[in-house]
Amino acid sequence: MALIRIITKFAKEHRVLRTVQRRASNICSTFIPEFENHPEISSYDDLYAFSLKNTDEFWGTLAKSRLSWQKPFETVSDCNLSEGQARWFDGGQLNAAVNCVERHAQENPDRIALIWEKDEPGTQVNITYKELHEQTCKMANTLESHGIKKGDRVVIYMPVSPMAIEAMMACARIGAVHSVVFAGFSAEALASRIVDANAETVITADEGVRGGKLISLKKTVDEAVKNSHCVKRVFVYKRTGNEVSKSSLDICLEEQMSKASPVHKAAILDSEDLLFILYTSGSTGKPKGIAHSIGGYLLYASFTQQTVFNYQPGDIFGCVADIGWITGHSYVVYGPLCNGATTVIFESVPTYPDPGRYWEMVERLKINQFYGSPTALRLLLRYDDSFVTKYDRSSLKTLGCVGEPLNHEAWSWFHTVVGEKRCDVVDTWWQTETGGISITPRPSAPGAHIEGGMPMRPFLGQQPCIVGNDGKIQSGNDVEGALCLATPWPGMARTIYGDSKRFVETYFRLSDGVYFSGDGAHRHSNGYYQITGRMDDVINVSGHRLGTAEIEDAMDEHKDVSETAVVGFPHELKGEGIYAFVSLKESIKETPEEIIDDLKKVVKTKIASYAVPDFILITSALPKTRSGKIMRRILRKIAANKEDELGDISTLADPESVSQLVESHKNMM
Ligand code: PRX
Repeated sequence: MALIRIITKFAKEHRVLRTVQRRASNICSTFIPEFENHPEISSYDDLYAFSLKNTDEFWGTLAKSRLSWQKPFETVSDCNLSEGQARWFDGGQLNAAVNCVERHAQENPDRIALIWEKDEPGTQVNITYKELHEQTCKMANTLESHGIKKGDRVVIYMPVSPMAIEAMMACARIGAVHSVVFAGFSAEALASRIVDANAETVITADEGVRGGKLISLKKTVDEAVKNSHCVKRVFVYKRTGNEVSKSSLDICLEEQMSKASPVHKAAILDSEDLLFILYTSGSTGKPKGIAHSIGGYLLYASFTQQTVFNYQPGDIFGCVADIGWITGHSYVVYGPLCNGATTVIFESVPTYPDPGRYWEMVERLKINQFYGSPTALRLLLRYDDSFVTKYDRSSLKTLGCVGEPLNHEAWSWFHTVVGEKRCDVVDTWWQTETGGISITPRPSAPGAHIEGGMPMRPFLGQQPCIVGNDGKIQSGNDVEGALCLATPWPGMARTIYGDSKRFVETYFRLSDGVYFSGDGAHRHSNGYYQITGRMDDVINVSGHRLGTAEIEDAMDEHKDVSETAVVGFPHELKGEGIYAFVSLKESIKETPEEIIDDLKKVVKTKIASYAVPDFILITSALPKTRSGKIMRRILRKIAANKEDELGDISTLADPESVSQLVESHKNMM
């Protein structure tokens, strides 16, 4: 019987694969079986048009065939972008962990779910779907035995590891809402996220390991918990087993899980119940807890993972993002696992032990799709190409990038050196708020051209538009303005946790009936989209969003600081660097150097290392309008060494201050 099952399964997978190869060349660069024989669809353009015109039929069909529902949904969508409201698959009940783990553990127990590429070079750990399921159940039982229940928020502050993914899945199984915090954030940043979510539970590790260095996670959690009185328990996983600080709230995770049952009954949840919160920076105030719900997010993450990357059964999917960011959520964890894929979880950094790390890993693990960041590529292309070419990369089929513009040099290196001009390069545009990829060269018509340096085409079901200064949607091509999305999609964020007013005001007020991304874009004469950068006071450092206000707030707390203004400037490696202009109070005892040092420490302590400004310029005054508003436009030009483009400064209260600033900037460089 078992043999027959294996043969049938093999034949089935093979048949699907052959069909994929045969059909892929028909309508779309990727096989989408649900619409292959649809009477209205005979080309990719038809499929795209159908996805916009028949939104409910399009997404409803996919949701039925791709997700396992405990109770079928009654309506597909109920959305009103004017009100910032979206509901998908109402009436439907499902569980994300059942979809991502349990159903595959039943169908293909021995298939590898996770390949943990540990920090230590050459060390990998394979976890099958059966093992992942059992571990998830043990963790779910552990959490429940400590009183954690549906709707509770659980903060996960962990290294990229199977245990972290089991924690996410265990939360999903019991209906708790996870909030993964990147394990590089400081104690204060972690505390503010714990408090905002009012979380009683934190799951962490003794230490993290990255690039051969130990990171004291538990110590940071202990500090954070001192300032977050809501926390009642801290589960600690032993990543290194070293002696670390202890607190009365600690619970040893492995010990608890070893006693727990590997059998667990998954909670039956509504499609619109929250799956997770993920904090991201905005232009004002504290980071926002972007909230995603179960059904829509899961469908969107998994559908995009399969179709953008042309993932096929048996492929090894390698997204090297950290699970602390949305890319990790959608394309390391939820998207691939929902599709029953084998997903690589990468704990290390691209240059450890040397700049060949990614490509050695590609050869050893036989990775088929590689998804990374422009910053890492810009860093790696500085080294000799032999770090790439000495490894066999013939397994690679699709290369992808996200987080910031992929400049031509990096695109061309990725395409030519890494991909040997064989692989499609997908420059994908999306955000924490979109849940998954929204603009991307693939899928597309078979053989459609890919142009370097831009994400190009809307994903299926997506209708980007450009809103001009007048708040109106621009018609025609060759237009530039605010990048908005005009059609609701299942993966869109549902709210900002605890602040639905801010959600509506931030994303749905620029122009009626569209979602505003915060980015600017140019729609070229051929209709392709190119991102021009953020339009708000958010800067993008190595693909990570940072609000200038967050950094200013941190520095303003220094006793000697009177006022600060932070701007971004073009940075060769990081995309954008951070430049802080700081004016001090009078009669300061410390030297400027000491204050600069202090300020760097303050930012590191309050936010994270990556938020520390590259330059801090101490100045006597900041340029302001007569009404007292800091002229950031001028500061941006100075930081970018474009003092000849300062424009009209006559409206300033003190135009003289500008020449002094330019002078000090030049002296500092
Ligand atoms: O400015 C855009 C930039 O990253 C922002 C979203 O950041 P986050 O929510 O942290 O998610 C990053 C990973 C999805 C966007 O508003 N961005 C993302 N992808 C691109 C990009 N900028 C240019 N080109 C891209 N492909």
